[in-house]
This record gives sequence, structure tokens and C-alpha cells, in this order.
Amino acid sequence: MRSRPVAVLLAALIGLLAGATLAADPVEEFLRRHWRRPLAPQGAPPARFTALEGSLATEACGTCHPAQLAEWRTSLHAQTMGPGVAGQLVEMLRSDAESALACLTCHAPLAEQAPLVAAGAATRPNPAYDAALGARGLACAACHVRGHARFGPPRRDGSLESAAPRATLPHEGATRTPAFLRSEFCQSCHQFAPDGFALNGKLLENTYNEWRASRFAREGTQCQDCHMPDRHHLWRGIHDPETVRSGLEIRATTGAPRYGVGETATATLRVTSTRVGHAFPTYVTARVILRAELVDAAGRVVAGSRRERVIAREIALDLSREIFDTRLLPGRSTALEYRVRVPAAGARVRLAVVVEPKAFYTKFFEALLAEGAGRGEAQIRQALEAARKSPFTVFLQELPLT
Ligand code: HEC
Ligand code: HEC
Ligand code: HEC
Ligand code: HEC
Ligand code: HEC
Repeated sequence: MRSRPVAVLLAALIGLLAGATLAADPVEEFLRRHWRRPLAPQGAPPARFTALEGSLATEACGTCHPAQLAEWRTSLHAQTMGPGVAGQLVEMLRSDAESALACLTCHAPLAEQAPLVAAGAATRPNPAYDAALGARGLACAACHVRGHARFGPPRRDGSLESAAPRATLPHEGATRTPAFLRSEFCQSCHQFAPDGFALNGKLLENTYNEWRASRFAREGTQCQDCHMPDRHHLWRGIHDPETVRSGLEIRATTGAPRYGVGETATATLRVTSTRVGHAFPTYVTARVILRAELVDAAGRVVAGSRRERVIAREIALDLSREIFDTRLLPGRSTALEYRVRVPAAGARVRLAVVVEPKAFYTKFFEALLAEGAGRGEAQIRQALEAARKSPFTVFLQELPLT
């Protein structure tokens, strides 16, 4: 039989636990409500609102928030309904509407952006559909507006209050919450759920969990601190050379200051992930290539001298299997070790790091066109052209060998 003090202790613990679930973290509570999918239609704007205040269009927000609009326009969040996505959705909305609607939960999540709504097991036209808004991708309102009310981060001094009575402010001001400063705000689109699509035991999108396990989470550095510094709405990532460089330390060295003709020279190209807050790169869609090659005295590349090492998580085009995973976790490094016989005086080794942000999509769009993209063909061609143009060099150095 249990002694009385133990029973009291147990009762207290159970009480504490129950109390803990009752008083759930208000920020978590807010995020669960804010991002519950599918997002509810905003409904009719309050009658007190002007047409401008009641509009969900990004251009309407930009009338009073021009800085955010100008930045957002250049960001990939403004292109989430670009030709690569929209081109696939044309046919998918007819052949597999359920999957098409699932794509929209990340690519155009407002209820007003979906042409169809679920009706039991089938779908029907969405009465709230706004085609222009649908084409805008991740619009301001998807992150900031629910039921026509505005939500945003605390003021820069940390306070949550408004400067004036809210009823006197445009769109009656905003509800401010620290939820906007947390990685969890980004989680629902940049992290698959635990039962989401996985290969080789690893989720296909795992950015939040990668961050969670890193020193950045322990130190309190959120997604926003790196991707929205000073509250900028740019969200630069693997498509931007400056951002990629900011996360890496890249060093090129030769084994000796100089070599004689006929000797074997060595060179090392080392990449360390110093300030990437998740795996580098985090998705299966980008590839990073470390490249070494020999250049003669006239600056020509010596045929057959190229060696490469790939940093990527490469998967089969049909998503059937993972081929390899050489991504760098935060703090890790990898190196390309190059050995070459020095052919003549004036020879140099050229070391480069090349990023292909859309490596997977380039092959994927090619395969889709070969198979037939139906009414989405023109858009997929446009997306393929953009994907082919996306590679860039983040590091290039030539070291003399003689
Ligand atoms: C008629 C001008 C006007 C329009 C249109 C407008 N806003 Fe605002 N908004 C303001 C003003 C003024 C404030 C500052 C209120 C305060 O000081 O509390 C504000 C505050 C905010 C805030 C709180 C953060 C901050 O800067 O204080 C957010 C978030 C926001 N607006 C988002 C939006 C979005 C999204 C849209 C479009 C759907 C939009 N606004 C349309 C004028 C406008
Ligand atoms: C959980 C959120 C999520 C869902 C659901 C989702 N995506 Fe994406 N999608 C992303 C993210 C994040 C990226 C950027 C990273 C990348 O390239 O993989 C992306 C990138 C893309 C791109 C590349 C963009 C371009 O212009 O080249 C295409 C195409 C795409 N998604 C199509 C789809 C389609 C089609 C579906 C539905 C079958 C879908 N996505 C469902 C989050 C999502
Ligand atoms: C992907 C979600 C997302 C989208 C899309 C988005 N924002 Fe924001 N916005 C945020 C987050 C998160 C913050 C707070 C960032 C921080 O403090 O680090 C923020 C902050 C703001 C602020 C407060 C700025 C300040 O200096 O205090 C305004 C105003 C705002 N956004 C307006 C807009 C407008 C207008 C658009 C569209 C042109 C837009 N946002 C698009 C997520 C978003
Ligand atoms: C509603 C879904 C959604 C939310 C919320 C969201 N994102 Fe995104 N994000 C996307 C999609 C989809 C893309 C892919 C766009 C493309 O490639 O065309 C993307 C792209 C990006 C990129 C561009 C990376 C590159 O390929 O260069 C960054 C960085 C990013 N998001 C960071 C964030 C951060 C930080 C937050 C939280 C403040 C956030 N996102 C919130 C859906 C979302
Ligand atoms: C310590 C800074 C840092 C933090 C924290 C961080 N990132 Fe990044 N992120 C980067 C850098 C640098 C890149 C460019 C290199 C790369 O692509 O990995 C990047 C790239 C990306 C990309 C481009 C796609 C890709 O394949 O890499 C996305 C999307 C992204 N981050 C989302 C997020 C989200 C969501 C969070 C929070 C869970 C986050 N990041 C936290 C620094 C950071």
C-alpha cells in the first residue's frame, strides 16, 4: 500500500501536470490557431473599413507599407505560384484536385487563393476565390491577416501596445505577438509533419528539426534572425550568392608553395558550414559542387583535369529512393583533395564552389515535358529555362603551382 506522503506527492504532480496542460504556452496556442489548415475564409470586411483597408491584395498593403512590398516583390515568397508550380497545377486541379489543394497550403495558403474547395470527398468551385490574389503566391495577408484583423510582431522596443487607441488606426491597428519572432512561425511550410513523405528514413523537408538540433536553436538564433535581419522581407537563401557566402568558410590551399615540373602537386578546397542554421543545403533540390582543375600558363583548362565533389541530398526523379546524402550539418566541413602532375611552368590550379539551386527541378521539368505537361506546357518551359540559368559561382581562386 502507498504511504500517505507519496500519495500526496503524486496528487501534487498530477495537479501540476494538469495545470501545465491547462495553461498552454500562449505563443504556441496562437501559432496553432494562426496556421490551422486550411485557413478559414476572411469573410466580409468590417463595414467601418475603407475599401483599401478591406483589401487583401499585396498592392493595397503596399500603399501604406511600401518598404515591405518593395522587398517582398523581389523575394521567392512572391514567386511561390511561379510558372513551375502553376504549370503543374493546371492539369492537377482537374486530374487530382485533392493533391493540388495540398500544394496550395504552402504555395498560396489563403482560402481566397484556392479555385476549388473540398466538399466531402469531392470538390466544388470556391465562391471566395480571387484569381489575382491566387497568382500572388505567399501574400502579406497569409502571414498577417485572419478574419480581416492584422497580426504582427511586437514593436521594436518589445512592447505590445498600440501608439493610439486601435479604433483610430488604419485597419484598427494590429495585435502584436512574439510568435512572429519565433522559428515555429515558419515551421508549417518548411517542415513536413512526422508522418510526412520520407526517403531512407528521413523526411524530405526537415528544416525546422535540423535547426532545432543545432547550436543556433540552443543560442536562441531564430529563422528570422538570419532570413529577416532588421525585419527585412527578403528571405534570401540558396538562390543568393551573398547569403550562401555568409553561412560558409571556404579555404583553398596548396600542399607546398611551389612545385617543379613533373612533380605531383596537391591542393585542398575546404568548405565549413559556420552560419547555416540547418543542413547545407536543407532541401533535396539544390546541389553544391566543389571543383578543381588545372589551368595552363595561357589560362586554358587542361582537358581531363577536372575533379569534383558534390554536397547534396540527391534523390531519384520519381522520388523512389535516396541516391546519396553528403549535406553538411551545422559546424561540419568537407574537402576536395586534388592531386595532379605539374605539366609545365606557369601551371595553376583553379578551385571553385558552384551552387545549382534548382538542380533537381531542372531534371524534373525536363522529364515532365518529355512525358507531356498538357495545358501547363508553356509555363513549365519557362520554369525550365529559369532553372537552367540559376547556377552561380560563390568562390573562385587560382593558385600558382610553379
Ligand atoms: C491605409 C493604410 C494601411 C493599409 C492599407 C494597410 N495598413 Fe497595415 N498599418 C497601417 C498603420 C498606420 C499601422 C500602424 C498601426 C500602429 O501604430 O499600431 C499598420 C500596422 C500594421 C502591422 C503591425 C506592424 C506595424 O508596423 O505596426 C501589420 C503587420 C500590418 N499593418 C499589415 C498590413 C497588411 C498585411 C495589409 C494589407 C492586407 C495592411 N497592413 C494594410 C496602415 C495600413
Ligand atoms: C509543406 C509545404 C509545401 C507543400 C505542401 C508543397 N510545397 Fe512546393 N515547395 C515548398 C518549399 C519550402 C519549396 C522551396 C524549396 C525547394 O525548392 O524544395 C518548394 C518549391 C517548389 C517548387 C520549385 C519552385 C520553382 O519555381 O522552381 C515547385 C515547382 C513546387 N514546390 C511544386 C509543388 C507542388 C506541385 C506541390 C503539390 C504536389 C507542392 N510544391 C507542395 C513547400 C511546399
Ligand atoms: C512569410 C510570412 C510573411 C509575409 C509573406 C509577410 N510578412 Fe510581414 N512580417 C513577417 C514576420 C515574421 C515579421 C516579424 C519579423 C521580425 O521581427 O523578425 C513581419 C513584420 C512585418 C511588419 C512590421 C515591421 C516593423 O518594422 O516592425 C510589417 C508592417 C509587415 N510585416 C508587413 C508586411 C507586408 C505589407 C507584407 C507584404 C508585402 C508582408 N509583411 C509579408 C512575416 C511575413
Ligand atoms: C505559407 C507557407 C510558408 C511560410 C509560412 C513560410 N515560407 Fe518560406 N517559402 C515557402 C515556399 C513555398 C518557398 C519556395 C519558393 C520558391 O522556391 O518558389 C519558400 C521559400 C523560402 C526561402 C527561400 C530559399 C531559397 O531557395 O533561396 C527562405 C529563406 C524562406 N522561405 C524562409 C522562411 C522564413 C524565415 C519563414 C518564417 C518567417 C518562412 N519562410 C515562412 C513557404 C512558406
Ligand atoms: C544561422 C543562420 C540561419 C538560421 C538560424 C536559419 N537559416 Fe536558413 N539559411 C541560412 C543560410 C546561410 C542559407 C544559405 C545556404 C543554404 O542554402 O543552406 C540558408 C538557406 C535556407 C533555405 C534555402 C533552401 C536550401 O536548400 O538551403 C531555406 C528554405 C531556409 N534557409 C529556411 C530556414 C528556416 C525555415 C529556418 C528556421 C527553422 C532557417 N532557415 C534558419 C542561414 C540560416
